[in-house]
Amino acid sequence: MFVVVGVTGGIAAYKTVHLVRRLIGEGHEVHVVPTEDALRFVGKPTWEAISRNPVTTSVHEDVATVRHVSLGQRADLVIVAPATANTLAKMASGLADDLLGTTLLATTAPVVVAPAMHTEMWRHPATQQNMRVLRSRGVHVVGPADGPLTGGDSGPGRMSEPDEIADAALAVVAAAVSGRAQDLAGLRVVVSAGGTREPLDPVRFLGNRSSGRQGVALAVAAADRGAEVTLVAAHIDGEVLGGLSDRVRVVSVGTALEMRDAVTDAASVADVVVMAAAVADYRPAEVAELKLTKETQGDRVTLELVENPDIVAGLAAGRSPGQTIVAFAAETSTGEELLQRARRKRERKDVDLLVVNEVGWTRGFECADNEVVVIDRSGDVAAQASGSKREVADAVWDAVVAARL
Ligand code: CTP
Repeated sequence: MFVVVGVTGGIAAYKTVHLVRRLIGEGHEVHVVPTEDALRFVGKPTWEAISRNPVTTSVHEDVATVRHVSLGQRADLVIVAPATANTLAKMASGLADDLLGTTLLATTAPVVVAPAMHTEMWRHPATQQNMRVLRSRGVHVVGPADGPLTGGDSGPGRMSEPDEIADAALAVVAAAVSGRAQDLAGLRVVVSAGGTREPLDPVRFLGNRSSGRQGVALAVAAADRGAEVTLVAAHIDGEVLGGLSDRVRVVSVGTALEMRDAVTDAASVADVVVMAAAVADYRPAEVAELKLTKETQGDRVTLELVENPDIVAGLAAGRSPGQTIVAFAAETSTGEELLQRARRKRERKDVDLLVVNEVGWTRGFECADNEVVVIDRSGDVAAQASGSKREVADAVWDAVVAARL
């Protein structure tokens, strides 16, 4: 495969050396196109030696080969790593004042960018706006990761690890070849699924009928569409989970409080969080240390319950820029009343999308099929789907992709 690796002016450029080595090691022809600024971090001799190809930054060099467009035209894949805030802004505007800019405009190949910058720059509305523009044009974004930055500070902004970038980029190309949509490639996704159990005593709990099937279908669909997925699973049967764990990171939890901790932890670096789990709204105020017996309780028992934190509302209140939060609502009302309740719930929780389904003793739970309506921020019906839980999952991800544009 003919791969162009654009390198822009960030300290993470040194990590891109490993990315190029890996691509060469896998037999690809790699052409490195650094910006002038990038060469201050890693010099031309390194890129030429490692890629075994000449390296130029300017459109005025090697003019006879019309290099300013030929690289982009010949490319099967273009990766920009690290992609600085400045380069991302230039890409969003279509500026072409150097060889990387002309290459990006001349290519029709998949483009994968790995942003790297300080947290404040990443969070700036201008950068976030540019990312939306780029995503809407089909650019795949990998990272940035959360962690220590060069100034000693810490937060989202680190360039993703070279192997992660290579894996995502190669998956994008593989999918393009196979025709399967990889519209979630480079995204980190958290899905919660199943039903929490709130213990009463060592042998009893308050629970619900969620099987986790819809959440598992969402996790599998996201992985198929290229996302890196964490599934926070509350009491899901091994049979439903199937052989999922080699494609999806599974974190098992029991109670609502455990689910809050696991989801909040995973959400700190996620682009999308989908709360499909049935979380208990209340838990017993006290958990008996010993089994409750008829001898001690008598013929009438009163349970005192305390409210659990609303996990999804908490995530929405603390969401990072560009993060998409999706809630589910299982409702027993129908028709217009169902939609009105859904709109109020979406607003109350301040989530980007609310997926609502009608449930009852014979609908929604423990069965293979499902029927949902997705409400967006304006209160409109963004999607409607019925069919297998996988079909519904894909419709939800379509709505997520549309909401992120
Ligand atoms: N949820 C949550 N934390 C809770 C309860 C629910 O994050 N403690 C999430 C669920 O995972 C789901 C959505 O909120 O995504 C639906 O919650 P629901 O129980 O329907 O909403 P409530 O605000 O509790 O409204 P209701 O009074 O209708 O139960």
